[in-house]
Amino acid sequence: MAGDHVGDHDGPIQPPASFVEGANVTEDLREQFEREGPDAWSRAADTLDWSEPYDEVLRERDGALRWFDGGRLNASYNCVDRHLADRKNHVAIRWEGTTGESRTYTYLDLYHEVNEAAAGLRSLGVEAGDVVTLYMPVMPELPVVMLACARLGALHNVVFAGFSADELAERLDGTGSEYLVTCDGYYRRGTAVNQKNKADNARMAADHDVETVVVTRLDDDLYLSDDHVDYGELLDDHAGATVDPVERAADDPLFVIYTSGTTGEPDQVVHTTGGYLSYVTWTGESVLDIKPSDTYWCAADVAWITGHSYMVYAPLALGTTTLLYEGAPDQSEKDRLWELVERHRVDVFYTASTVVRAFVKWGEEHPAAHDLSSLRLLGTVGEPIDPRTWTWYREHVGGGDAPVVDTWWQTETGGILVSTLPAVDPMKPGAAGPPLPGHEVSVVDYTGDPVETGEPGHLAVTEPWPGMPRGLAEAAVADDWTYVTSDRAVVDGDGYVTFLGREDDTVAVGDTAYGPATLESAVIEVGGVAEAAVVESETAGEKAVAYVCTERDRQGDDALRARIENHVADRLGPTARFEAVIFTPELPKTHSGKIMRRLLSAIADGEEYGDTSALRNPETVGEIETVSRDD
Ligand code: WT7
Repeated sequence: MAGDHVGDHDGPIQPPASFVEGANVTEDLREQFEREGPDAWSRAADTLDWSEPYDEVLRERDGALRWFDGGRLNASYNCVDRHLADRKNHVAIRWEGTTGESRTYTYLDLYHEVNEAAAGLRSLGVEAGDVVTLYMPVMPELPVVMLACARLGALHNVVFAGFSADELAERLDGTGSEYLVTCDGYYRRGTAVNQKNKADNARMAADHDVETVVVTRLDDDLYLSDDHVDYGELLDDHAGATVDPVERAADDPLFVIYTSGTTGEPDQVVHTTGGYLSYVTWTGESVLDIKPSDTYWCAADVAWITGHSYMVYAPLALGTTTLLYEGAPDQSEKDRLWELVERHRVDVFYTASTVVRAFVKWGEEHPAAHDLSSLRLLGTVGEPIDPRTWTWYREHVGGGDAPVVDTWWQTETGGILVSTLPAVDPMKPGAAGPPLPGHEVSVVDYTGDPVETGEPGHLAVTEPWPGMPRGLAEAAVADDWTYVTSDRAVVDGDGYVTFLGREDDTVAVGDTAYGPATLESAVIEVGGVAEAAVVESETAGEKAVAYVCTERDRQGDDALRARIENHVADRLGPTARFEAVIFTPELPKTHSGKIMRRLLSAIADGEEYGDTSALRNPETVGEIETVSRDD
């Protein structure tokens, strides 16, 4: 029996008139999609400039679905060159480093450096179809080299800078990548990391030779042996060079990226030039409401799909200013992000829901200390956001009236797939929203049959979309194709999807199976609680254990424990009892900000949890208590 249900939302919240007035998309496009079917996706293609128009929006050819088949384009042209006529002096990238430095690139600056980098890479032998691996923190050279690859028709393969030499070597081998662009080092939470050293170890471990370019981030007098190329010298050697954008077919690959592997092994995903770029640009315009005049900020790492789609490709294709921040949200002060919002008059702010829960933990005085009135729209991604955190975000960051979009998507989907359209759809805190126009989803049981409305099951996407990766475009030619995700969800009578968590994180409480989000959301409703993770513990007899972080000024004591237990029983029924409620200063999170529930479950049972290199905060693991039989 599954106990997840919907219906606890505090009534739908209408989009505020002040927002609707200026929004990019103010009509419900669902009708248009119903009338025209997939042809309505021409809207997405129309956000781009094509050097050769496409013949058909969607067709099947040679064993795969092809979006915008026959069309040709170049992604770097769309993100850079096409803005030169109107806005060459407009800021494209505003970068803030961790040690007080900042840099600004206008679209013209970006054009020059992307061209020189493309000419430099070409001189090293990079051609269309080659894979170039990038291994850098959030610094301007990262998007510059991504766009230089795109200009040449080469695929980038961005590897998170915090990954180890082994992880880098696996990704060099897995993609057969013969080129690597890295940096000498960078500061991670104030400590200098020798990135080049890790890159060198990976090169030695790789099964083939890897030509390596090194960008200087720390040391201007860096000595490079002659089997490295200095990025600065490479640019100097090609000063003023221009490279014609290489025309790509719509479904030629744009890049390869590995899934984050929170559950299971990381997989390669290949996104296309025309389908992916149209899809992220269209969702950036319609969901994130990005306007060219905005300062837009997605606070994430460029290495994840969130960064590819909504720090680089969508904002630059739309000609806006994208703010890139190198550090962690509390590096080095807990109001660092709000100081940046105030200083740059940020219009749209998008971040992970787990980061928002950290804001709650740190306290409302931090956003309150800054003028955040420039913020027009807020977004979250990555994990479900419970109603209490959603409301806190809108209240303390969004001035009480900014719409909040809870965007569900995956590395595989390329861009946002379930979310409200901020000027069209009412918001229901806790529910991500309906599928975007053009999409259909269904909730299915483990045999693949649809369940009743209001019943939990697995979320399945049943129609193709332009941002689908190459592998899915091939699978989708089958008659009975649907894409079943590993997420559990419930759809309500209005078609709104509430996400319950990943299927392998399901927790039994009494006789009832719950998605962790349902239980955690109930715990977070208790005053004084900032974050919670509920996992199953074997020691506790396959029962649920709640790990809880309190707000900064609150004590995790027996009184609070009792309030949590009573509230959860009120919410979910008297049999909904945790075996233990354990207070902890932090929850273990992946580099991309997801709670590592499996690891937490192993910690609860005092098991060997092995390698913690996938964690952002491995130092906290030792501080987390295990479940004792007396609890
Ligand atoms: C998984 C995908 C999407 C880009 C960042 C993560 C979870 C993502 C939400 C949301 C509930 C969410 C899902 C999904 N997820 N957004 N708004 N509500 N869950 O990409 O690393 O591929 O992770 O993140 O479980 O399957 P990813």
